[in-house]
Amino acid sequence: MCGIVGAVASRNITPILVEGLKRLEYRGYDSCGVAVHSGGQLQRARSVSRVSELDREVADTKLEGQTGIAHTRWATHGAPAVRNAHPHFSRDPEAARIALVHNGIIENHDELRGELKAHGYTFESQTDTEVIVHLVDHYYEGDLFAAVQSAVKRLQGAYAIAAICRDEPHRVVGARAGSPLIVGVGKGENFLASDAMALAGVTDQIIYLEEGDVIDVQLGRVWIYNAAGREQSSTERPVKTVHAHSGAVELGPYRHYMQKEIFEQPRAIGDTLQGVEGIVPELFGDKAKSVFAQIDNVLILACGTSYYSGLTAKYWLESIAKISCNVEVASEYRYRDSVPNPKTLVVTISQSGETADTIAALKHAKSLGMQHTLTICNVSTSAMVRECALHYITRAGIEIGVASTKAFTTQLTALFLLTLTLAKMRGHLSAESEAEHLKALRHLPTALQAVLALEPQVIAWAQEFSRKENALFLGRGLHYPIALEGALKLKEISYIHAEAYPAGELKHGPLALVTDAMPVVVVAPKDSLIEKLKSNLEEVRARGGELFVFADGDSAITNSEGVHVIRMPEHYGVLSPILHVVTLQLLAYHTATARGTDVDKPRNLAKSVTVE
Ligand code: M6R
Repeated sequence: MCGIVGAVASRNITPILVEGLKRLEYRGYDSCGVAVHSGGQLQRARSVSRVSELDREVADTKLEGQTGIAHTRWATHGAPAVRNAHPHFSRDPEAARIALVHNGIIENHDELRGELKAHGYTFESQTDTEVIVHLVDHYYEGDLFAAVQSAVKRLQGAYAIAAICRDEPHRVVGARAGSPLIVGVGKGENFLASDAMALAGVTDQIIYLEEGDVIDVQLGRVWIYNAAGREQSSTERPVKTVHAHSGAVELGPYRHYMQKEIFEQPRAIGDTLQGVEGIVPELFGDKAKSVFAQIDNVLILACGTSYYSGLTAKYWLESIAKISCNVEVASEYRYRDSVPNPKTLVVTISQSGETADTIAALKHAKSLGMQHTLTICNVSTSAMVRECALHYITRAGIEIGVASTKAFTTQLTALFLLTLTLAKMRGHLSAESEAEHLKALRHLPTALQAVLALEPQVIAWAQEFSRKENALFLGRGLHYPIALEGALKLKEISYIHAEAYPAGELKHGPLALVTDAMPVVVVAPKDSLIEKLKSNLEEVRARGGELFVFADGDSAITNSEGVHVIRMPEHYGVLSPILHVVTLQLLAYHTATARGTDVDKPRNLAKSVTVE
């Protein structure tokens, strides 16, 4: 989603701003722009094309300056168009006094727009952001920091902002509430960004801002004030060394980040298991033992792919740990009336740790009196980790492809560890089973390599899929969420309409869709439901449907007319979902590349959904 970079230095900072935007491209955007303080004026360049195009424009127009801000925009209010791209200017664009960039959504923008129009401001865009820049200008009396402080008090909604002023050449002022913002501390120069990745190669000295902070970034110093207006010390907002390696954003031998990330999964799972010597509650934090001892059920809150990892975990938690588990889509849970139980362990799952709906659902659960919170998250410095009492950090590494892959399998790995931990504490895990499960977990990277070796066979299927417009995914039990995830992957990047059903539901409706034009993908592990699943496949074949079955090696499903089979290397017991999902990721990836879509940045989607 939107990205921010800002800088104050004694050198020309446009290359740093543009490079920062390039590093944020993975979040998804549809326009971009940069504004600098130059020759006593504010000047800007904006584009509805890629950042590389903006880079050319910046070079052609010799846009240079020592103080500036830049932005990648993912449209919410107003179409992707140059006039809606950030930075926005206040007052006459020819003699602008304030320039501002914004991530988030301002909910009371209509009301503020009316007020500002009455003060004589005119609007050139359809964005909510333009309201903020005029508001800052309205409050400006020679001190940009004071003006931003006054303006943000009027805002309702979520924001991270950065502003510069024509009359204060060496100053960037920022603020955050609901959207992430960080400070990068350099030597005699300072920066601001929505993500530490934007500053990779510039500085690794990062300060994470808290909700309500307003910051004053100048050449040799940064001042941070909290929501109450009190200056924060270096203990309250410590500088952390963050290794946001620029190497992580290099593609290496792969065509797309998604492909790279699919193939990184053996490493990512190995890293996620690092340091796991045995099953102990402390894996989830120092207080985990006492928290886990007080709970009698689990509530999982998440969105998208993370929600499907939660659905998979429900099967594990209820069958292995014998603890009741509910899984809810965060955007639904936050707005519905539910019956709170203070003995609930609320688990949020998130790759980014910044998903607005999941954070809001977590806060909602806490407001209902459920204080036992745990997050499974890929970003240790994220808002989600700060909001939760306990955490398990997956070590997938930065995930750039919008379609989540390695984040999913590492989440499943962490959720399985949670299952074993709760099972052990509740007396449902013998020492023998613990050792067997740990052995299976440690063998996962090797088992995954064998699954990745199936790629050529999957590519052959993908050619066929690329000519279809619909697909049905079937699974049962533990593999039903995997069918859901497979369908999400396919629709997200190939734009083929895909639905997933528990195979037993077929005859209750979706069977009506089955014709010889409808490919039906089946996740068919050799588990206790395999015979039931085979009967469901017969139902499809009897209607002329073409089956594409991922079957475990020793299942008796074989190739025949209308039935195509790819054999999985081995049946992997309860961890089988972690292997089966990889074949579905490959199928979606190769189908999308065959259709020529923008795999890493699918239309209309953003990597990190920081707005509601
Ligand atoms: O960062 P999160 O895990 O909280 O993100 C949740 C979803 O937005 C995300 O999983 C989304 O569904 C993916 N693009 C799916 O591939």
